[in-house]
Order: sequence, then structure tokens, then C-alpha cells
Amino acid sequence: MRFIPLEKQLLFTDGYRRCFSVQNQHVLLINEKGKAYAINAFCPHKQWPLIEAPITDKVITCPKHLAQFDLETGELIAQCVSDTPKLNAYEVVYEGYHVGVFI
Ligand code: FES
Repeated sequence: MRFIPLEKQLLFTDGYRRCFSVQNQHVLLINEKGKAYAINAFCPHKQWPLIEAPITDKVITCPKHLAQFDLETGELIAQCVSDTPKLNAYEVVYEGYHVGVFI
């Protein structure tokens, strides 16, 4: 694994959300109330984009079928169907002037 810088810290402010393609993975970088998260940009159930998904108390809800995932761990909290897998969550790292992930 290595550090992949995604955004300048200066631009990574509250409410920030942006998708990046990193090593064949789609990473959604989020700043929610000053806390940084990085998750797979698509829901693991039916690949619905999560860029505009609502977030409440560190839980993101897929708008399509309402599966809910812990933003820090990707763990499934509430599922729409029994076979919904865990969401990929990445470690967010601040290095130099950038914020990024280890992939
Ligand atoms: S596509 Fe996200 S819950 Fe079904």
C-alpha cells in the first residue's frame, strides 16, 4: 500500500465530497462536519452512486434502496436485502499539504 494524495488540505473543507479514480477503484472523499472519510463511491448492493447520499451521525444511507453503512468502517448497519456486502472504507491520511488515502 502507498499514500495517494487526493486533495489539497486547503480545499478540503466541511461539506466537501468528490470522487476519484485510484488504481481501478472509485474513492469518494468526504469531509463531514470536519471529519474525513474515504469510501467506495458506489453502493456495494447495486452500485448506486453515493456522492449525494445523506449522512447522519457517521452513517451514510444509499438513496436507491436505503442500505446504511458506517462511514468509518464500511460496516453494514441496515440492509435492504440480506446479501448486501460491506462498503469499502479507506484510511484517510494527511501528509504534507494534501489529504489522501492508503491504497
Ligand atoms: S443500490 Fe444501494 S441499497 Fe441498493
